[in-house]
Amino acid sequence: MSRESGDNLDRNSSGNLPMASVMDAYLSRRSVMRGSLGAAIALIAGAGLTGCLGSGANQGTPAPARPATPRPRLGFQSIPGSRTDGCAVAAGYSAYVLAPWGTPLNSKASPWKADGSNTSTDQANAMGMHHDGMHFFPIGGSSDDGLLAINFEYIDPAALHPNGPTTSANGKRPAEEVRKEINAHGAGVVRLRKLNGRWQMVDNDPLNRRFTTASLMEIAGPLRGSEHVKTRFSPTGTQCRGTNNNCGNGYTPWGTYLTCEENWPGIFVNKGTRPADQVRIGVATSSGQYGWESAAGDRSEANDEFARFDITPRGASATEDYRNEASTYGYIVEIDPYDARTRAVKRTALGRFRHEGCCPGLAVAGKPLVWYMGDDSNNEYLYKFVSDAVWDPADANPSDRLATGAKYLDHGKLYVARFDADGTGHWLLLAPGTATTGGSTLGALYGDLAGIILNTRGAGDAVGATPMDRPEWTAVNPLNGDAYVTLTNNSERTPAKVDAANPRGPNRHGHIIRWHDSDDQRSFTWDIFVFGANADGGADINRSGLTELNQFASPDGMSFDSRGVLWFETDNSESSVTRYTNDQLLAVIPTDLVDANGRQVPIDARNQADLRRFFVGPNGCEVTGITFTPDNKTLFVNIQHPANWPRSDIATDATPTGSRVRPRSSTVVIQRNDGGEIGIG
Ligand code: FEO
Ligand code: CA
Ligand code: CA
Ligand code: CA
Repeated sequence: MSRESGDNLDRNSSGNLPMASVMDAYLSRRSVMRGSLGAAIALIAGAGLTGCLGSGANQGTPAPARPATPRPRLGFQSIPGSRTDGCAVAAGYSAYVLAPWGTPLNSKASPWKADGSNTSTDQANAMGMHHDGMHFFPIGGSSDDGLLAINFEYIDPAALHPNGPTTSANGKRPAEEVRKEINAHGAGVVRLRKLNGRWQMVDNDPLNRRFTTASLMEIAGPLRGSEHVKTRFSPTGTQCRGTNNNCGNGYTPWGTYLTCEENWPGIFVNKGTRPADQVRIGVATSSGQYGWESAAGDRSEANDEFARFDITPRGASATEDYRNEASTYGYIVEIDPYDARTRAVKRTALGRFRHEGCCPGLAVAGKPLVWYMGDDSNNEYLYKFVSDAVWDPADANPSDRLATGAKYLDHGKLYVARFDADGTGHWLLLAPGTATTGGSTLGALYGDLAGIILNTRGAGDAVGATPMDRPEWTAVNPLNGDAYVTLTNNSERTPAKVDAANPRGPNRHGHIIRWHDSDDQRSFTWDIFVFGANADGGADINRSGLTELNQFASPDGMSFDSRGVLWFETDNSESSVTRYTNDQLLAVIPTDLVDANGRQVPIDARNQADLRRFFVGPNGCEVTGITFTPDNKTLFVNIQHPANWPRSDIATDATPTGSRVRPRSSTVVIQRNDGGEIGIG
């Protein structure tokens, strides 16, 4: 998310800022004698990689194997930057618009109207606003027929309504407008088919459906039935309504979608005394971001549909008001795209914060399953969840996918990362018995596991996790299990607070960290894979030797394809790069970047030509969401919050200067003109 509702404020007052002293220790250990701190940090970044991932000096991690021959190679030339109201894509490829905001999923919705006059009912039965994370689920393994599960992160009220949002003289938002806004958020599933080489939405497919910020959902995992989530709506604390600010995504090996709730705290308001978890996560104190609570009392209101956004305690107990409504948000939500009869399920065991991505590790028979998760705000943490159950490949095609979800996602260990300056790191267990840096235990601070999860950020503070530069998406290399996280930027990283893993302060351009977990899941080795930079940024900024053909800032969306190509997207507002290009999609094959001993190295001035710009979006947008068909012949990305696009269904068709369109976030389908695989060959 960026622009209107990009609340990434630093609410971490834990003092978990390792740095100068740890940095000194590291530099001294390596006998660094260079003059400047910047040069020293560059040395850490560059040397750390081979030293950490390659040598296995600390954890016994084997050097990642070279990929089986022949090595794949990127098969396109990097494109220059672009700053138009259209997309640009590498030579030999085409890009077209699919399923933009407002496209009906079924016959209950009227066609999208360019004057913004569609109703809230239309919106509940149509593509939502601000497409973000997504995943392609093939039907019968097909690469021509499948389901796209997709997030609708937030709204642009100016585009959603005919003349923007309104508020009446008494300060109330109109109920119909509020319902339309609630229904434009969430996630969806849409059937796609490729006919004559071109993907189309299947209108009225029985599997098409929407999840909005009002949809009935189940609460599962440690919070289910706890005191923390009992409300007037669900006195047993087992159900809740809605998902919101669904940003990054994940998926499971049993064919379900994971949608991640990110900047949801803004939709609530607590005008009383906020409990610690609400302070730490940023629930508002004067009014909700869109004022949804102001529609409470409208004569059309049903089941407190608006009142629930004001979480100020008013009743005698939690089951008489909505003081706990916000405690039903901030989770990973599991959706079964293949069965429209099922409800979405909040998998609370995976922690409660501003969730960004949720990429699974490699599924290995007999080993636990793992998901990696970022909490996207300045100075927040990187997490992972490790299932108690070990993977049984027979679960890949279960008769009840959500029961399988309960098996692997409701019971397990939640960890938060501490990055140490020597290139190792530790996963700190968030459980009642874990000792805190203050000499207590998490159990003493928060009670049981449910209390710890409700206060996940606070628990991370208490155990000494490393504050990071806004962790966004995670990705796992299918060739060797290495994990990656995009750290998009951090305006609050002052020069005095830099550390080995977040070495630039302020961090205006972002970077990508890579790590490899130990077999026991408790430690890892890490390095910095690439630093965002403008090509002319100088040695301290441009530490990866980027050029005009791959300069970028604010990495965000990211995924490996099944061949080991790493694709990452940007959500940038750093002017040293925006003056050259709009947001973009780049590709690199990390296992191709090796030293003479075959050990992986980061991107640097010698190999930077292997990081290539593949696609650029229109003015004002971010490029986000990424998924592939099984045959790697179709790549889907999303254009979110474009300024003046799309003009037609040809994504590269720029809106002419002086012409205005009502902007629509949209999926963009990218295919090779000769029908071949995307990106390589
Ligand atoms: Fe919604 Fe962190 O981007
Ligand atoms: Ca976004
Ligand atoms: Ca994002
Ligand atoms: Ca972002």
